Amino acid sequence: MRIEILTLFPGYFRSPLEESLLGRAIGSGLLEVAVTDMRLYSQDRHRKADDEPYGGGPGMVLMAPVVAAAIEARQDVPPAWRVLLTPDGRRLDQALVENLAQRDRLLLVCGRYEGIDERVRELGLLDEEVSVGDFVLSGGEAAALVLLEALSRRVPGVVGRAESVERESFVRDRLDYPHYTRPREFRGLGVPEVLLSGDHARIERWRRARSLERTRARRPDLLARRPEEPGEAEEPQAEGAKGRLQRSSPID
Ligand code: ADE
Repeated sequence: MRIEILTLFPGYFRSPLEESLLGRAIGSGLLEVAVTDMRLYSQDRHRKADDEPYGGGPGMVLMAPVVAAAIEARQDVPPAWRVLLTPDGRRLDQALVENLAQRDRLLLVCGRYEGIDERVRELGLLDEEVSVGDFVLSGGEAAALVLLEALSRRVPGVVGRAESVERESFVRDRLDYPHYTRPREFRGLGVPEVLLSGDHARIERWRRARSLERTRARRPDLLARRPEEPGEAEEPQAEGAKGRLQRSSPID
C-alpha cells in the first residue's frame, strides 16, 4: 500500500513515521509513505498557501490553486483515492478503515481548521472526506496520523500475528476483553483464575463473555450493529467468581 500525505507541516510526521510498528512497516517496505509540502505548489514567491477568507472572519483558508496543483501533481498512475481530513467528513470507524485499506494508493490531504477553499470540492478533486471525531483539531495532520496508523494495522505482515488484529476492539463490533500480565499479584489484586488454567477453550469462552459484557456496558450501539450470538455470553465452567477480577489470596 502506498500513502501520500499533502500537508503544510511535513516536519510534523517525521518521528511518528520512524517509530514503532509504523516505522517498521515503512522500513520493511510493507507500507510506502511519502510526505509532500503543499507549499511547493504555491505560485507565490513567498510560498504562500493560505489566505484570509472572503467575507471576513477569523483564521486562514487553504488556497484552491495550491491544493489543486498539489493534488494533481501528486496523483499517481493508477490514481490514488483522494481523502481530505476535515471535521465535516465522514466519521472514521473500523468499517471505514477496512474499506480504505482495500485501496492500493491513498492521497491524504491535510486541511486546516478554518478549511480549504470550497472550489477544491466543487472541482471534484476529492473522492472522500474523513473526520476522526466530533471535535476540532488545528489541522488534518494529527487526523492523518490516526488514519495512517489504523490503516497500517490492516496491511498484511505489519502486525506480528494476524490473529491479534482479528481479535482487537471494533474489528468484530465488540470491545476488547481485559488483559493481565505479570506479576500475578499487584496491590492485593490477583488475576482471574481461568487465565492461569492453561485450558484454552475455557480461556476463549471467558474472553468472549468479558468482551460482550464490556460492550453491553460501554458501547451498546455496537450490539445493534452485530447482535449477540447464541452462546456468546456463555461462562466457562468451574472457575469461581465467574472469572472476574478478584482479590486474591496470597499466591503460593
Ligand atoms: N481537522 C480538524 N479537525 C479534524 C477532525 N476532527 N478530523 C479530521 N480532520 C480534522
